[in-house]
Amino acid sequence: MDVHSIRKDFYILVNSDLVYLDNAASSLKPKPVIDMINFYNERLGVNVHRGVYRLSHEATELYEGAREKVAKLLNCRFEEVVFTRGTSSALNLVASSLGMQIIELGDEIITSELEHHSSMLPWQNVARKKNAKLVFVPLDEDKRITVENFKKVLSDKTKVVALNYISNAMGYITPIKEIIRLAHEKGAIVIVDSAQAAPHMPIDVKDLDCDFLAFSGHKMCGPTGIGVLYGKHHLLQTMEPVEFGGDMIDTVELSCATFKETPYKFETGTPIIGGAIGLGAAIDYINSIGYDFIMQQDNILRDYMLQEMKNINGITIYNPKTDTGIVSFNIDGVHPHDAATVFDQENVAIRAGHHCAQPLMRCLNQVATIRASTYFYNTKEDIDRFIQAIHKAKAFFDSFI
Ligand code: ALA
Repeated sequence: MDVHSIRKDFYILVNSDLVYLDNAASSLKPKPVIDMINFYNERLGVNVHRGVYRLSHEATELYEGAREKVAKLLNCRFEEVVFTRGTSSALNLVASSLGMQIIELGDEIITSELEHHSSMLPWQNVARKKNAKLVFVPLDEDKRITVENFKKVLSDKTKVVALNYISNAMGYITPIKEIIRLAHEKGAIVIVDSAQAAPHMPIDVKDLDCDFLAFSGHKMCGPTGIGVLYGKHHLLQTMEPVEFGGDMIDTVELSCATFKETPYKFETGTPIIGGAIGLGAAIDYINSIGYDFIMQQDNILRDYMLQEMKNINGITIYNPKTDTGIVSFNIDGVHPHDAATVFDQENVAIRAGHHCAQPLMRCLNQVATIRASTYFYNTKEDIDRFIQAIHKAKAFFDSFI
């Protein structure tokens, strides 16, 4: 696999000198994915499920074909794939439906300070409404979730465990399989935020035995506005819909209605047709690149980035033992948003902020960090330009001292 030929699929990489290192926020979109989205909009453009004409059948086949592709990617059943607007809406769906049905006074919900807000806040809301208790896995000295620390908070009261698979701010891989095994011994349900994992590593939900898992299309070469909730079939069956309206019903009376089987009872209104078809194309694209290559690239770029960054005085790296291509750091004495303007001038795209992980920022005693995050189309030359930008930012702000 040749990274320089891969880069030809990405308009921005061919037509600008941008160094794109904000992949944890969103990946770039390759031509085959854009072509497929355009194909739907230009050549089909019609609704699914309802139409009894050829174009609608074709659109339905592509839409449901995308669900097949997700099922194959995750190693689950077709009916276990619910299309959502993204990871956040998938995680909210579980909390608003199952969470509100099963959580009772005094129950405990385990989450962590390493979570993206979307993994934690839906459960904060359930806990508040149901007088349940949110319990946080103590992070270790590197701010990691460990099995040992998970065991410290797991109890007979644990009803739900909501944790990330890969931290969006620190790039750590959570030992989620062992955590799931332990949680199941207590009869708890485990929800895995895989927004950062699905783009970077193969996921087998049967092997993990997770109860729910969520990810977004746009971080893995797909379009924005589409995501996936995987749920074990028997759990999805017990869950009530949280949105009501067209396409999700079976029969409607004036005072009551019955609903379709999962996944359709959760996909009300006209579904995210172009988004799902685009996600299907993104999965084909990712499969053509291969997770072996993706993980190899992340590791090579991470090692090179850390090696070069460790030679720079006056920066603090918060996750020098990151497991992935996500590196969080600050230039000492410089606000990350100020530093970000220099990166932008150098045409290096990084994210500066709290990364939707304010509790973690508090653990780090920072208001924000600069985050660089790689993907398979990045090169060592990108890292060199990123390192140069750090030097420029340092020199610029040092000149004011
Ligand atoms: N969740 C995305 C990030 O971490 C937006 O940047």
